[in-house]
Amino acid sequence: MIWLILLVTILILFYIYTFRSFKYWETRNVYYEKPVPIFGNFYDVAIRKRHMGDVLKEIHLKLDDNVPYFGVYIFHAPNLVVRTKEMIKEVLIKNFTSFPNRMDYTNEVVDPLSSYDLFSMKEDLWKFTRTKLSPAFSSGKIKMMGPLMKEVTDQLENLLESSNGQEVDVRDLAKRYLVDIISTCAFGINAESLKDQNSQIKVMANQMLDQRGFVRSFAVFAWFFCPLLVDIFRLPFVEKESSDFLVDVFLSSYKERKKLNIKRNDFIDLLHEVIGKKDQNDLIVFDEIKMSAQAMAFFNAGTDTTSILLTLCLYEMAMNLHIQEKLRNEIRDSIDPTGSISYETLLSMEYLDLVTKETLRKYPFLQLLQRYCVKDHTFETGLTIKKGQRVLIPTLALHHDPKYYPNPEEFNPERIRGDRIKDLQYVFLPFGEGPRKCIGEKFGLISFKLGLSMILKNFEVLPGPQTEIPLKFEKAAFFTTPESAEIMLTIRRVD
Ligand code: HEM
Ligand SMILES: *[C@@H]1O[C@H](CO)[C@@H](O)[C@H](O)[C@H]1NC(C)=O
Repeated sequence: MIWLILLVTILILFYIYTFRSFKYWETRNVYYEKPVPIFGNFYDVAIRKRHMGDVLKEIHLKLDDNVPYFGVYIFHAPNLVVRTKEMIKEVLIKNFTSFPNRMDYTNEVVDPLSSYDLFSMKEDLWKFTRTKLSPAFSSGKIKMMGPLMKEVTDQLENLLESSNGQEVDVRDLAKRYLVDIISTCAFGINAESLKDQNSQIKVMANQMLDQRGFVRSFAVFAWFFCPLLVDIFRLPFVEKESSDFLVDVFLSSYKERKKLNIKRNDFIDLLHEVIGKKDQNDLIVFDEIKMSAQAMAFFNAGTDTTSILLTLCLYEMAMNLHIQEKLRNEIRDSIDPTGSISYETLLSMEYLDLVTKETLRKYPFLQLLQRYCVKDHTFETGLTIKKGQRVLIPTLALHHDPKYYPNPEEFNPERIRGDRIKDLQYVFLPFGEGPRKCIGEKFGLISFKLGLSMILKNFEVLPGPQTEIPLKFEKAAFFTTPESAEIMLTIRRVD
């Protein structure tokens, strides 16, 4: 009984508190939409009816071009949403020192792994780690991973041969391809999930990032939006059993390699180099936990992002057969006689790049970017944002704004041909922008382009009897995710 009274009292106090907080934007003359008690503008998101990206998109598309920003309340907290190129540049690049962090929050005790990955680290520690890790993601390093990737694409080709003429789940296919690519490049092991559908690593990878379950999606939601809940419920960002398993795999591979002194030009080699180069100014020592955290971040950030991109691109190819054919012609004209595709070739294909960008535009994996303000900042427009508040950049809304992308629902690679992409710099943000943009962009793009080219060079993807048209998306997931676990397309050899 006493608990009930306590709970009711807290709710009432919070209710009054939010009521007061909800004056914030009004007094500053910033456009906002009427918040509901307790939840602010977050009610639909909290009850898992809509995605936050979608809420921002609706407001953004309603507003006039000359409105540079608007406000939203996430529960009681005012968040500023900036929507002009100038302001986005200010936050992400020009005044980065005022906005150096994301707010994603982790509990170091419950979840040391996520607390030490690049995604969650803050300020100096982040900068130190980012500088140390950057060489691992350079073009030179990725190019050297070519032979490792070739082993995987050979297995991909085998699988395609054996699927000829059948309807296949391309979401599963793409996931297996990426799990194998990332396992070999980050963990130094062959996961063989393309060979064996029930490969343990793949099963664990699915379990780790699955957001369909309530607890998992709640944890991710809290991680981004409501730090307090992470502490109260002691929520880890990644699921524990599977992440423990993968850390084990990584560490035993690392130790084995150190013992045998083998070099393979993968991420393990690089981590080893980083640790070897000790400096007395180092902010942290990369012990086993901190090393594993980086490997896990690579695995987490690399598999779903890139495999969903590949899945959605294959889907669009099946829906737009003339685009698919044009792309296949380019691939066939570019590959060398042995049928393999070099790093340089992948970069040289122009239409492939347009198709890639258009997929990233239509389906940005992260539907919004966020930055946390660490010191009061007055924008050039005159508006001041306070330390501790958060700025959101509505990626999905910008990518679907007809002002920049006429007829935004249409899949049209030509829209960003040539110089046009330059004009779109701050309104095309699939990888973010500025010092904190995605560190794995080059790696993700290369593994995506390689997989897509290997599939399309000899095979076509077509809608089949089980293909879902139009595709539906998961409403509650934080990331852009198809609702259906299986995306079925027919795969057929073309000569
Ligand atoms: C198509 C694939 C990918 C997409 C669409 C993507 C997207 C993003 C986005 C939007 C961000 C936030 C950037 C910002 O806040 O400005 C990000 C950050 C990050 N991504 Fe990716 N990513 C992809 C692949 C990868 C891969 C393969 C890795 C491998 C390591 C990776 C590692 C990271 C890390 C570590 C961060 C945090 C960077 C930092 O805070 O310094 N991503 N990614
Ligand atoms: C933002 O950055 C610009 C250029 O770096 C600088 O001149 C300006 O003072 C900064 N503004 C604030 C409020 O820090």
